[in-house]
Amino acid sequence: MKIGILSSGGDCPGINATIRGVGKAAITYGMEVIGVLDGFTGLMFNDTIQLSERQLSGILTLGGTILGTSREKPFKKKEGDVIADKPQLIKQNCAKMGIDCLVCIGGNGTQKTAAQLSELGINVIGIPKTIDNDVWGTDVTFGFDTAVNIATEAIDRLHSTANSHKRVMVIELMGHHAGWITLYAGVAGGGDVILIPEKEHNINKVNEVLLDRCRRGKPYSIVVVGEGIKIEKKNGQRAGAYVAEQIERGTRIETRVTVPGYTLRGGCPSPYDRILATRMGTYAASLINERKFGKMVALRNNEMAAVSLKETAGKTRLVPHDHFLIKQAQRVGTFFGD
Ligand code: F6P
Repeated sequence: MKIGILSSGGDCPGINATIRGVGKAAITYGMEVIGVLDGFTGLMFNDTIQLSERQLSGILTLGGTILGTSREKPFKKKEGDVIADKPQLIKQNCAKMGIDCLVCIGGNGTQKTAAQLSELGINVIGIPKTIDNDVWGTDVTFGFDTAVNIATEAIDRLHSTANSHKRVMVIELMGHHAGWITLYAGVAGGGDVILIPEKEHNINKVNEVLLDRCRRGKPYSIVVVGEGIKIEKKNGQRAGAYVAEQIERGTRIETRVTVPGYTLRGGCPSPYDRILATRMGTYAASLINERKFGKMVALRNNEMAAVSLKETAGKTRLVPHDHFLIKQAQRVGTFFGD
């Protein structure tokens, strides 16, 4: 069999470890492995590279993706599209290239496209990928642990400067519409206030909590904010900047903002993500070997599972209001804005 591997959507640490896991395992099953460049775009233009043992070596700890990525959504028509029917072109090219199965490494948008290609009769296996950890159907995605480590390190470093200047330090974290990174890094980093997109917040209550901390002899605070929290988008202000402005205005405490941004998606995957990526990649290869197509690989109760792409496609997994970590953080005095 010949398989084609692609990575699509935002990059993150662990994609190359996954490509290595799929590729090396597939080769042990006697399969030919090619890499499709720049996500689904590569399928439309037959942009591929051979992936042999040599290309698959030395990439376990490499950040980003050796295949490149894009946010191409072939089933979504765009203004100025020159290709009339992208899905059909992809199907023709897969047949022309003799691809027996497509491995789609990506987030919920990618898994939705994978499900649609499967409906079109193309054999696909999806592998969930994103720092946001918001792919429905799996307990966790690789990329998330590394992002939490990077964000926690940043928060740790804010405590000393906040303390020295008796300031409120606001840090805005990626996560799109989900608050997983903000919740986990906020708790790990000892955030005093954590604002996630899934929970409405009242900035006046936040300010009262910060002033109360001052009254109790704690003159500095760390406020961890998810980029997707609901705010009145005042002249395109980012969430962190908006919250900092509201805090300084409401408490008169000197406040500063930090936005680690894309550093959360950069560099070497954590050991946990390398292991998860290897587990998912090799499991994907075993599903292909058993011709179990139309599935997304998932981690469920620390076991590998194959969930139907139809079931997961495009669904987003958000932080439940009653998540155990929220309750436990509240027990140590963390305020969630409500
Ligand atoms: O999905 C990963 C992510 O980093 C989100 O957390 C963030 O909102 C988005 O990608 C940024 O998108 P782009 O890479 O297209 O700027």
